[in-house]
Amino acid sequence: MKIRLHDKDFVPYLSETEIDKAVTSIADQINKNFQDKKPLFLAVLNGSFMFTSDLMKKIEIDCELSFVKLASYHGTQSSGEIKELIGLSDNIYNRHVIILEDIVDTGTTLGHLMEVLKTHDTASISIATLLLKPDVFKKKYPLHFVGMEIPNKFVVGYGLDYNESGRNLKAIYQLEE
Ligand code: XMP
Ligand code: MG
Repeated sequence: MKIRLHDKDFVPYLSETEIDKAVTSIADQINKNFQDKKPLFLAVLNGSFMFTSDLMKKIEIDCELSFVKLASYHGTQSSGEIKELIGLSDNIYNRHVIILEDIVDTGTTLGHLMEVLKTHDTASISIATLLLKPDVFKKKYPLHFVGMEIPNKFVVGYGLDYNESGRNLKAIYQLEE
């Protein structure tokens, strides 16, 4: 079913079932790779809140969760403009940090977060993203866990917004051509 947010129409793209499969595959890999490492998940707000919640329910190893905020996106185009990192108050020294992102587009946002994290003495830094747009990703750093690769089209739902609307949608929708 088509939905309208602000001035644009969106069509169904990824179902709840498809999303769940992608989340499960990321959780399985983390459960395997980080056993006895007590990873610290660092979820990037706002977009990753729903992915984070569903992923955490599938994590069966000892872990911690913290949230940071770093917005750089306006409308349907990646602005490239960087804002400040808020919320990195926990001690990440010597911790296995796993960044949780909803989507990696050009990778600019995450690149900035990585620069900040690299100045801390972490044990390791990994990235888990539900979605990746490989055609636009500038590949400045490795992405360890990718739920699904998608074409370079604007998507909303499951935490992702179009001008703050659509985050509550259970499925993911694509901008109608
Ligand atoms: P960059 O280009 O820095 O962008 O990797 C990443 C951030 O931009 C947002 N983003 C999107 N949000 N639908 C959205 O709702 C999209 O298709 C989309 N592409 C990028 C997102 O907040 C992400 O953290
Ligand atoms: Mg985001």
